[in-house]
Amino acid sequence: MVSQSAVKSELDRALALDIVRVTEATAVAAALWRGRGDEAAADEAAATAMYTELSRLPIEGVVVVGEGDAEETPLLYIGETVGAGGGPEVDLAVDPIEGSTLCAKALPNALSVMALAPRGSLLKVPDIYMDKIAIGPGFPDGLVDLDASPGDNLKALALAKGVPISEIGVCILDRPRHAKLIEEVKAAGAALHLIGDGDIAGVIHVTEPLETNIDIYMGIGGAPEGVLGAAALACIGGQMQGRLVAGNEQQRARARAANIVDLGRKFTVHDMVMGDLSFAATGITDGSLLEGVRFTKEAVFTHSVIMRASTHTVRWIRTEHPDIGKFD
Ligand code: FBP
Repeated sequence: MVSQSAVKSELDRALALDIVRVTEATAVAAALWRGRGDEAAADEAAATAMYTELSRLPIEGVVVVGEGDAEETPLLYIGETVGAGGGPEVDLAVDPIEGSTLCAKALPNALSVMALAPRGSLLKVPDIYMDKIAIGPGFPDGLVDLDASPGDNLKALALAKGVPISEIGVCILDRPRHAKLIEEVKAAGAALHLIGDGDIAGVIHVTEPLETNIDIYMGIGGAPEGVLGAAALACIGGQMQGRLVAGNEQQRARARAANIVDLGRKFTVHDMVMGDLSFAATGITDGSLLEGVRFTKEAVFTHSVIMRASTHTVRWIRTEHPDIGKFD
């Protein structure tokens, strides 16, 4: 990444809002595949819709966090240039469907997500795993740490919050790899909130513990989702650390190709994202953050959130699209 000072700080305000059109169109395309049991078809439809909408934006965009490497995916691959051109040079982090399985099975919390930031201000990560820990705003820096034990992190958080550990809610992806972590959280006496998929929403949920009962996100998920979670926290506040998990030489090579040489490095929110970034998400299926797409005879309805880091503005947007083919 380039230094903060080298990053153009102000993106066009209208452009910052424009990205919600992209996630809306993507969510609608994905929603047509809800419950069909075909993740690949849903992913393809969503990626095509996202690419098409991005092509209408007046940007010189580069996909920094995307669907995979160029040889793995035809659209929205890392390094792909997108946009109509003639506008600012920007980085994009995209996840046309966050929770492809959720969409294919019509389960809650599938989202369409993207972030846009000035060129050089999003961390380029390979599509491998990342170990993550995140808490909401208002706590001293470094209160929790990836290298501390789960018990110590929970103790520190409970103390800072002024509540017993039993009142701390912990969001973790329900995976066999988290068996030890889950046991340690149980032993510490905190309340588990296990999710099947979708750790971007898991990270965002730590910012509203009163509504979500989630105070902390812990565990290993996708590195691309890590950067997108950090993008949301840069807008709404909160702390996060992420460290790549590169278990074999192929994954280490992918990290090196993304210019990450120190695999032990713990990336904070501001190591992962900086500058005047915008983050947008639209619900595909109903979820704890957003409602899913609704189709009626007259119109299509979408529910989105758009946030901006420079102003910390958070807009919740309900849109009625009278013509499913147009998202103006
Ligand atoms: P996809 O939409 O790419 O399937 O991601 C869903 C997700 O649950 C992410 O939120 C999470 O970071 C990742 O998968 C975890 O990976 P895995 O399913 O391999 O544990």
